[in-house]
Amino acid sequence: MNTNVVTELTAVLRAAIVKTLGPEFAETDPVLRRSTHADFQANCALALQKLTKENPRALATKIVANLDAPSVLERVEIAGPGFLNIHLRADFLASALAAQLADERAGVALSPAPEVVVIDYSSPNAAKEMHVGHLRSTVIGDALHRVLAFRGHRVVPQNHLGDWGTPFGMLIEHLLDSDADGTTDTAALNSFYKQARAKFDSSPEFAERARRRVVLLQAGDAETLASWRRLIDESKLYMRGIYARLGVLLKGEDICGESFFNPALAPLAQELEERGLASINEGALCLYPPGFVNREGNPMALMLRKQDGGFGYGATDVAALRYRVEKLGGTRLLYVVGSPQSQHLAMIFKAGELAGYMGGARAEHVQFGSVLGADGKMFKTREGETVRLSALLAEGEERAKATVLAKATERDEPPPAVDSAAHSIAIAAIKYADLSSDRIKDYVFDWDRMLADKGNTGPYLQYAYARTQSILRKADAPFESAPILLNEPAERALALTLLAFSDAVNDVESSLEPHRLCTYLYELASVTSTFYTACPVLKAEPELRASRLALCKLSGQVLQRGLELLGITAIERM
Ligand code: ARG
Repeated sequence: MNTNVVTELTAVLRAAIVKTLGPEFAETDPVLRRSTHADFQANCALALQKLTKENPRALATKIVANLDAPSVLERVEIAGPGFLNIHLRADFLASALAAQLADERAGVALSPAPEVVVIDYSSPNAAKEMHVGHLRSTVIGDALHRVLAFRGHRVVPQNHLGDWGTPFGMLIEHLLDSDADGTTDTAALNSFYKQARAKFDSSPEFAERARRRVVLLQAGDAETLASWRRLIDESKLYMRGIYARLGVLLKGEDICGESFFNPALAPLAQELEERGLASINEGALCLYPPGFVNREGNPMALMLRKQDGGFGYGATDVAALRYRVEKLGGTRLLYVVGSPQSQHLAMIFKAGELAGYMGGARAEHVQFGSVLGADGKMFKTREGETVRLSALLAEGEERAKATVLAKATERDEPPPAVDSAAHSIAIAAIKYADLSSDRIKDYVFDWDRMLADKGNTGPYLQYAYARTQSILRKADAPFESAPILLNEPAERALALTLLAFSDAVNDVESSLEPHRLCTYLYELASVTSTFYTACPVLKAEPELRASRLALCKLSGQVLQRGLELLGITAIERM
């Protein structure tokens, strides 16, 4: 059984608070934080001042007198206006560490209330290459997928591929044209799309054909569908390659694109119209989600069916939401989509509620900011084009290779396989730079910063893990069951940080903010490094050596598990 220190300490403090103030205070937040003066500081006596009108120092004295946990507490001092400085017993921490070391979950419990969580992520548009915006959705969504699944939730990923609608008219026409003159190259997705777009903009004849082609597509014309399928298959092939390279969990079967919902749209529109929830306005069928008004104060429309009879992005999203609840059984629906779509999604959620499709499920827009270039504007190539993901990954690998080779000269061990290490480092750098910044904010894409082997970066954490493994390789005697000794402040600091791993993971589960786990792992890497400096491991006396090797091993386990939850591979040698 694992002990969560904060949970345990909270219970101990609450018991004393109840004894002091009465049972109505059983849920009091003890306001615990880590402290430089002790292991923890509790600010509850000050926080309770408003409610109890009692002098915090006097209250703190009473609470301390009522504390009764000799196996947990070493001593508690009252400081300043009424802070409790809490020192824990070393043997309490040591036994919690031993349990964490033996636990393959590194001390993270399963959720007591598992849910079915549907996560909409990646969701690029077919027949176009993915850009850095889709990179963010893919990387953040995948980290949340991993964290929630690890906590015991059933995660159902949904790749809401943009594989239907008007752009396919011009794409199919362009495909048929290029087939006719033998120049078809759908593998070059971006240029294929651009050529079609250019023709659409310059030739009225082509544009007209494209529009007629959309109608044929919507009507299910066999020849049109066959061409459409070719384009989609090519896109899926391309996506599979990107996902494999990025090392994300998304699989082919997670694709549930817009086209999947097409057959459901006409009945959905009819149902909503018949129930009086949607009405015709200037020929379009509109739903007005309560609470949404435009700048003029008029209700805002979610367009379900356009004037021309076609269905769009909005109707598809209402159908998808309903499907996620009714067919997939989702109780928590996450949409990992950029911030510009926040109003659209808020309207979809409201429409779902209005129509009774939510069935008690909660929908959340997990939004994120943009990726910026060094100039603070949207990240673009020097030529002003959107950055292709495949080119970005290739550049990362090239740059990481230089790092690996440079490191190889300053080490006493043989270098790792350069290409595979460079790949892992590049992916770690890219993912970590994305995940470690506050998701809502924009971030600046900067190779030098994200690949640096110092500071809050993916490669630094990989390096911190590799260092634990390098030490463990040199351990020649068993140490796993040796008692853990925590006499040095650096050992104690490391112990407390290790024991906080589950808090960091749970924090990501509730906030859906992966950067909290990044901050934790960076802190762990830092206290581990301080520990090496203050406490020799391999050169210590046998008992201490065994204890410190155990701490080293646990640090490695937690770093590896934490990185894995972010979708980053920990490498053995760096
Ligand atoms: N394909 C859309 C885009 O690239 C994102 C889809 C997000 N998911 C959704 N259910 N609307 O902007």
